[in-house]
Amino acid sequence: MTILRFSDLCAQGQPRGQRVFIRADLNVPLDAQGHITEDTRIRASLACIRMALDAGAAVMVTSHLGRPTEGAFKPEDSLAVVAARLSELLGCEVPLRSNWLGGVDVQPGQVVLLENCRVNIGEKKNTEALARQLAALCDIFVNDAFGTAHRAEGTTYGIAQYAPIACAGPLLSAEIDAITQALAHPKRPLTAIVAGSKVSTKLTILKSLADKVDRLIVGGGIANTFMLAAGLPIGKSLCEPDLVPEARAVIDAMKARGAEVPIPTDVVTAKIFSADAPATVKAANAVEDDDLILDIGPDTARALAQQLASAGTIVWNGPVGVFEFPAFENGTRTIAHAIAESSAFSIAGGGDTLAAIAKYGIEKQIGYISTGGGAFLEMLEGKVLPAVEILQKRAAASAP
Ligand code: 3PG
Repeated sequence: MTILRFSDLCAQGQPRGQRVFIRADLNVPLDAQGHITEDTRIRASLACIRMALDAGAAVMVTSHLGRPTEGAFKPEDSLAVVAARLSELLGCEVPLRSNWLGGVDVQPGQVVLLENCRVNIGEKKNTEALARQLAALCDIFVNDAFGTAHRAEGTTYGIAQYAPIACAGPLLSAEIDAITQALAHPKRPLTAIVAGSKVSTKLTILKSLADKVDRLIVGGGIANTFMLAAGLPIGKSLCEPDLVPEARAVIDAMKARGAEVPIPTDVVTAKIFSADAPATVKAANAVEDDDLILDIGPDTARALAQQLASAGTIVWNGPVGVFEFPAFENGTRTIAHAIAESSAFSIAGGGDTLAAIAKYGIEKQIGYISTGGGAFLEMLEGKVLPAVEILQKRAAASAP
């Protein structure tokens, strides 16, 4: 993939004295009082901001927060709490600017945060008028918002069309490189774990991975549909019976390539969905009509852990059971530790996956943790993300 990289521009000294507009993804979770509960995305955005400051640029940073109504700013839409956290992390004051479309007062060596970009009218639909207004604010546009790269919005796509220079920041570049490397040039065996409640939401990912991976481990409600496709009883577990033919097709496609979708041999069940429901381990073929499957069983977890130990590359999206409930967390915990201990290059993404990684304290043992949710999933589907596509177009247009 050919895109212009901000790091290369900095190495050439190009940003000195220039107005640099960075689109970051600072869309962090907040509690009911509006405090940041998890700041990974802010930390992950620091490298780009520091790079721009060190290069002597006048730096503007913006992001969305939530999904506000355009043209109707409300206090809860404000990036004030993000500005405060950025100031702490950068060790310098980061002023927050509102109503910034008409122009931004910022000096070389200074950084300002521009209020929630999704409040600007035309952002979501990426209107040409807004895109041109955004582009006029800067000399160099840097997209470093991997988490929002699957959206073609004003600050992720439109500005890149018209800015004098449009390039990728270090976080966007690193994410694309890591995911592309894991899927396109993996050390084999390549094992993917795709778990979640519904096959329907991840069907395109399953189909796309079925062409690439050596083992496709399914978990959660997705595994239930695959168990049904394999002729196993699943009681009243979450599942999508109408997608059984699709699951069957994935199993067959994998088999035809000599690859495998491991189907659980044992499971942990309960009669109701509750943290204190008694948990029963049973063989996968002994699930009763009134059972709910809430985790893979210990034999299955052990077998999968062995497979992960011998993997060359692991892509992980989704916990394999209801890991929030201690009685049903063994499968996810076993998988998490197996990934952590494996010598494979591992890459993980998605909100629930990150929560599991944090719960088991294995952050440092994962090769690459993506900041993307939807963007990570779309890359697993094999899509070129719109924000990347426009940077490719710009790079192609300016190639000698
Ligand atoms: C995310 O949280 O996944 C990104 O910030 C994108 O947010 P969106 O789904 O509101 O576009």
